[in-house]
Amino acid sequence: MMPLSGNTPLLKLTTADGTQIGSVAQGTTGAGRRETATEGAIRKREDVLRYGIDLGMTFLDTGEHYEDGLSEEITGRVVCGRRDKIFIGSKFNPLNNSYPGVMKAFEGSLKRMNTDYIDLYQIQWPNPSIPLKETVNALMYLLESKRIRYAGVCNFTMQQLKEARVISGNKISTIQMEYNLSNRFAEADIMPFCRDTGVVFVGYSPFSQGRQMFSPDELSLLSNLSEKYVATINQLIIAWMLTHSDTAIITRSTGMENTAANAATAAIALGTADVEAINRLFIREVHVIPTGRIRLLHPETPEPSWIYNTLQDARENRLNMQPGPVELAKEIEEAGMLKPVEIIPTSDQSGCFDYDLIHGQIRYWAWVIAYGEEKPIPANIIKGQRLPENVT
Ligand SMILES: NC(=O)c1ccc[n+]([C@@H]2O[C@H](COP(=O)([O-])OP(=O)(O)OC[C@H]3O[C@@H](n4cnc5c(N)ncnc54)[C@H](OP(=O)(O)O)[C@@H]3O)[C@@H](O)[C@H]2O)c1
Repeated sequence: MMPLSGNTPLLKLTTADGTQIGSVAQGTTGAGRRETATEGAIRKREDVLRYGIDLGMTFLDTGEHYEDGLSEEITGRVVCGRRDKIFIGSKFNPLNNSYPGVMKAFEGSLKRMNTDYIDLYQIQWPNPSIPLKETVNALMYLLESKRIRYAGVCNFTMQQLKEARVISGNKISTIQMEYNLSNRFAEADIMPFCRDTGVVFVGYSPFSQGRQMFSPDELSLLSNLSEKYVATINQLIIAWMLTHSDTAIITRSTGMENTAANAATAAIALGTADVEAINRLFIREVHVIPTGRIRLLHPETPEPSWIYNTLQDARENRLNMQPGPVELAKEIEEAGMLKPVEIIPTSDQSGCFDYDLIHGQIRYWAWVIAYGEEKPIPANIIKGQRLPENVT
């Protein structure tokens, strides 16, 4: 097996036949939930992913529970006929973190993707009810028996990553975390650790899942650089993310045009001074805000997971979110908050609130379950404006 090692701008992820995998990956979600996805939407999703593969984005990211398995089925169909040229990263639901759970989830993923191996198999979330050792040992069994080529983790704290590495005898090759201009928290510890140990950092949600906002100064810098490099602002953002060594970025586009734009980003070589200018300007501090000052309901942000409006709802976790607020509360008590919630200045006129929560509701409730309503919660205050349509 070739070692997994990286260099900028292209990762040296090498498939069985020696194919080099680009560091710009494609997320395979986007067709919609299984119950509602139409035949047309599924076919279009497959066409766009095949187009991205033709453009060199041969690293596909999926997961057993993404769109109830539909994302893996789509992945299986798009790699058909060229499986050995594709690098598939999949993951299992944290409900399946037990040893037999991992084995069962793995077989299910193989079946849905009609393949007999997974290139990169990852723990999507730690599950505090199941010892990490058990989950890592299951991954190691799959690695040693050559059913997977690499083992990785997602959404782990520094402490959990170190622990997983020790249990695995340093055989955890990747960590997947949210990373973008509004969320650079991995730079503090995870990224330096990756650089020191050769673990490949895989960043997801480069455009903050549509929540990115910029101050006038930030927008001005990005616009100037956009002209200089003859690239869109979103392309610049990915190019900036790729300037870290040993980094892959998971993009996700349901359209041909954005897919082509994303594929082209690996060729944009940002100058050091420009990278430093971005690094200096896009500082996001973590604030600690009393939960009572944060309004949960915001009429303009109909987020799909916007579902638990009371502590009781959150404890009951009727929609079976995984990890749910109660499990996440245990994890927060043991390992600290993984990433801050995202809030914006409130539009509420009553004076009762200062902020509205726009992302991280499960983390919000987990924090309240762990510490009650008195202890302030770590929060990223998102301010500014969205990218105007014509400058993206
Ligand atoms: N491990 C984990 O826990 C985890 C969590 C979340 C996500 N992920 C992975 O990361 C992938 C991507 O993350 P994401 O979907 O959350 O967020 P994202 O990439 O930040 O945002 C996707 C949005 O960006 C738009 N877009 C894509 N390329 C663009 C471009 N060049 N210019 C302008 N807009 C563009 C897409 O619109 P169009 O479709 O119209 O192009 C889509 O609305 C997921 O598919 C998944 O595989 C992993």
